[in-house]
Amino acid sequence: MPDYSIAVIPGDGVGGEIASEAVKILDAVKEKYGFALETVSFDWGCDYYLKYGTMMADDMLDTLKGFDAIFLGCVGDASKVSDHISLSLLLTIRKGFDQYINLRPIKLYPGVTTLIETASPESIDMVVVRENTEGEYAGLGGFFKLGSPDAFALQTAVFTEKGCYRAIRYAFELARTRKKSSGKGMVTNCTKSNALNYSMVFWDSVYQKVAKHYPDVKTDVALVDAITMWLIKNPEHFDVIVASNLFGDIITDLAAMLQGGLGFAAGGNINPEGDYPSMFEPIHGSAPRYAGKAVVNPIASIESIRMMMEHLGEQQAAHDIEKAIITVLASGEVRTIDMGGNQKTHEVGDAVRQAILY
Ligand code: IPM
Ligand code: MN
Repeated sequence: MPDYSIAVIPGDGVGGEIASEAVKILDAVKEKYGFALETVSFDWGCDYYLKYGTMMADDMLDTLKGFDAIFLGCVGDASKVSDHISLSLLLTIRKGFDQYINLRPIKLYPGVTTLIETASPESIDMVVVRENTEGEYAGLGGFFKLGSPDAFALQTAVFTEKGCYRAIRYAFELARTRKKSSGKGMVTNCTKSNALNYSMVFWDSVYQKVAKHYPDVKTDVALVDAITMWLIKNPEHFDVIVASNLFGDIITDLAAMLQGGLGFAAGGNINPEGDYPSMFEPIHGSAPRYAGKAVVNPIASIESIRMMMEHLGEQQAAHDIEKAIITVLASGEVRTIDMGGNQKTHEVGDAVRQAILY
């Protein structure tokens, strides 16, 4: 009998509401498969900061290390704490647990409307593999000569061979696996080596080295500015896209629009070796102005639980969650405001739970 303990960090804003739906789905698969599964919730976030002057307990990583996986709701509430401070919670976990892959599947489910005309359930099925521990997010730099007319800031990107290699290799492995079902098997290198003459030239060279080991996977390249256009113009072209930390961040918000909006987009922060727990989250923010109204779409959070199950090796549970999401979305009966309906967050969660169990 598998035995899972899952840490839940609801975070700020609407985090509590969507974390309840995530836990509801964990409970549903627990009931269906008889897993011994426990969830433990932590109150780190902006309110914690206002009370204790820090976003999270000093021993957060030690505490979380013992869990099998983490669900993170959403962090940040600029009315309470500056974003660059509050988001240390998320970035500390990503880096501290060497979650070097940020995996963002982009799928448009039938019944979901999108503003993008080229997007249809047939044309939208891709995955963005985002490097998640270094690059533009290395956090190195400083402010200099502040208060003088010569003031300046430095923010240094770091691209290590190991960091580029492992992200790109992950993307090729994924494309090889996906080839069996989608038949495509292609990794698009999202780059900007025409202007970033050190970091991205280096990144490209690692991409080329890795590609040689995967003759069965097609190569493809797109500059990051151009890819934003291609993703709208020809989204069906893409299979797996590999991108550095910042580029991956930017293009996945755009890609979320192809799947119906941020209400549907989930991400996994993965430590593939399993040396540390991986963390799953909806990629929408904390939307403080909607907090407490039960209006946000819980599908992104439910989808992140699907990814968690897949990561834990519970393929049947993952499959059942996806099937339930598809059933609920296709029926169009229970829809939050972003889907044109007027049902509440928990009503959508209930419908998915129902579809998993019955
Ligand atoms: C994301 C978010 C984060 C990021 C922010 C909140 C720091 O936008 O997960 O995409 O930039 O990675
Ligand atoms: Mn983002």
